[in-house]
Amino acid sequence: MATTTVISGPEAGSAALPTPPEGSVIVTVKIARFNPEDGKGAHWDTFEVPALPSDRLLNLLLYIKGYLDGSLTFRRSCAHGVCGSDAMRINGVNRLACKLLMKDMLPKDGKPLTITVEALKGLPVEKDLIVDMEPFFDAFRAIKPYLMTSGHEPTGERIQSASDRARFDDTTKCILCACCTSSCPVYWNEGSYFGPAAFVNAHRFIFDSRDEGAAERLDILNDVDGVWRCRTTFNCTDACPRGIQITKAIAEVKRALLFAR
Ligand code: SF4
Ligand code: SF4
Ligand code: FES
Repeated sequence: MATTTVISGPEAGSAALPTPPEGSVIVTVKIARFNPEDGKGAHWDTFEVPALPSDRLLNLLLYIKGYLDGSLTFRRSCAHGVCGSDAMRINGVNRLACKLLMKDMLPKDGKPLTITVEALKGLPVEKDLIVDMEPFFDAFRAIKPYLMTSGHEPTGERIQSASDRARFDDTTKCILCACCTSSCPVYWNEGSYFGPAAFVNAHRFIFDSRDEGAAERLDILNDVDGVWRCRTTFNCTDACPRGIQITKAIAEVKRALLFAR
């Protein structure tokens, strides 16, 4: 990325700048840009944005889009850490922009703050902070992430004890944000690797006492692109915004492959 453009005034954007709120400080937000249609190639743009301690990074991106550069492109939906759509690389670490509070980033000594924002690594960049999620969802679909049963449909609910439910509780929390898979060095180097999110979602069904597809899924995960390629580097666990113990889940899947579940 060769060039950097600084954009800080209303002339660059689509609306008049509002008065910065009381108590706000100016933060520099450096964003990796790419538009396949403008011929500029990959480059950095830098924006000066007022931020309150109560803001999330997502608020700053929305400010940039609303007042400084309407062409900035990123995904977001819920703004509350639920939908998983605003995963991006913030200061080199995969995070959800809507969960990153400015009070945790602003220096206590009042020094200037620069935040770098890039698209997730390991997935093709479509535009600015938007990556093509299809390779990620291909791996998710490959592990058959749904309840598999045989025989007649039960006439009532499928009963499960609290302890059986607890067995896979952690992996039910996945919101498919891709923070884990796109922080995995094995995935960066070998895109055919299923990646940790696929393992997490396989775990969720393999250890569900109501499911009968464990053997089929384990067979898939035993593949050359499956769990054995994991190097247990913990990047995925560190990146997960839901706090899922991903490396532990992968170890449990490996154990299930070696022994009976
Ligand atoms: S623990 Fe395994 S899946 Fe997770 S980041 Fe490391 S190599 Fe990738
Ligand atoms: S396991 Fe965590 S980091 Fe990975 S996709 Fe699910 S929620 Fe995101
Ligand atoms: S916008 Fe939904 S998780 Fe951030």
